[in-house]
Amino acid sequence: MMQREDSLIIKNGIVVTAEKIQQADVYIVGEKIAKIGRNLHLSAAQVIDASNCYLFPGGIDPHVHMDLPIKDFYSSDSFTTGSAAALHGGTTTIIDFANQAKGRSLIEAVDEWQSRADRKCHCDYAFHASITDYNNTTRKEVSQCIDDYGITSFKTFTAYKSSLMIDDRQLIQVMTDVAKQGGLVLSHAENGDLIDSQMDKYRQEGNLAPKYHALSHPGVAEAEAVSRVIDLAYATNCPLYIVHLSSGQSLERIKFLNCLKRKSPPIFVETCPQYLLLDESLYEQEDLEAAKYVMSPPIRAKSDREALWKALKSGLVTSIGTDHCPFLLQQKKLGLGDFSKIPNGIPGVEHRMELLYSEGVEKGRISLKRFVELTSTAAAKVFGLYPRKGSIKPGADADIVIFDPAQKHILSSKTHHMNCDYSVYEGLKVKGKCWITILRGVVAACDGAIRVEKGFGMYLKRHPVL
Ligand code: URP
Ligand code: ZN
Ligand code: ZN
Repeated sequence: MMQREDSLIIKNGIVVTAEKIQQADVYIVGEKIAKIGRNLHLSAAQVIDASNCYLFPGGIDPHVHMDLPIKDFYSSDSFTTGSAAALHGGTTTIIDFANQAKGRSLIEAVDEWQSRADRKCHCDYAFHASITDYNNTTRKEVSQCIDDYGITSFKTFTAYKSSLMIDDRQLIQVMTDVAKQGGLVLSHAENGDLIDSQMDKYRQEGNLAPKYHALSHPGVAEAEAVSRVIDLAYATNCPLYIVHLSSGQSLERIKFLNCLKRKSPPIFVETCPQYLLLDESLYEQEDLEAAKYVMSPPIRAKSDREALWKALKSGLVTSIGTDHCPFLLQQKKLGLGDFSKIPNGIPGVEHRMELLYSEGVEKGRISLKRFVELTSTAAAKVFGLYPRKGSIKPGADADIVIFDPAQKHILSSKTHHMNCDYSVYEGLKVKGKCWITILRGVVAACDGAIRVEKGFGMYLKRHPVL
């Protein structure tokens, strides 16, 4: 057989998918996986020896915010810098959010976000559309998103009343319309009125330190909204994906509503590494240190952390996103005299897979197969990218992470690739490192260097297949 110039063989690795673990070689031609098997006698233009390494499907981070405009500036990672960091950490596809401005067109937002990503996003990318104002025009635009743009998932907010929140009447209409068209509704579930009333109270009392951000977003604000949006999803028969779930109280509501057993409509739950690894004591530090961790929902008690780990194992949590939304220290400083002015969000896209491996698999909290499901396969299935992405099998995109489980390293802003001058995991010792990340058959990141120019925009298919 003639050797193809665009062929690559990865030899001697341990291939891990959500279904099985096998020692095998992976033969890639062009962008696709062509063959998987033991001791393949095939010659390829490029050979990588992956002895003692795992081969994972390229990570899919379903929740990032690159170039997110907030009042006077943007989140500090652009699509270019943020996608490079993603590749270094084994993530080959990111899904960002195109946010409708209140009173403006949803399609205008989608065009705006796509043009930012199209300029130069190193990894593959797709979008959810965030609906912040549901009127007759937006209703038509939902169909346009699905039919013309391949955007099938629509984010809604039950918080951020002045900018992003829609009321329950609008949410019910969104769910009804999206369900009819085979789409999925995402929910940032926190009770906006409760949060606003707490924020006003603390500000009136002169309690302005960053820790009052956390105190004004109590666990019950999330639990109440989680329970409400699930009930509304059942009432409208609309598939629902709850983003960045942070609290044990919310998990109790999800258990109470029996979401795992009641299969239709499916209720999917995402959590993030920060809720699994950090805890609220960080808000007790001096102001700028505490401001680094201001995000919504905030990080919570150690008991919430433990409840989330259990939910990863039991299947109550479906997938892991990062909610990557970094700001520089000078931007965080803008809110030092008033916690409500601290831009919300933290850096995270680079470390999702290594953190979950080190803290999850290495510490015996989750299995290797579950690790793959949580970091790649589940998101591919929920958001209509499967089986093209989310697995290592013939015919799939050759998105593969070659992961060295023995390599130890320490996370730091001095060595990470995200455009952020601090790390929320500064000094954390991690076991296991993404050595090579392959995107569509090309070595995209290796030993700190990015070798691909541009990823591709992906269409999301309707009808989640989980
Ligand atoms: O604090 C956060 N999470 N910022 C990003 C926007 C969001 O709510 O997901
Ligand atoms: Zn959110
Ligand atoms: Zn977010």
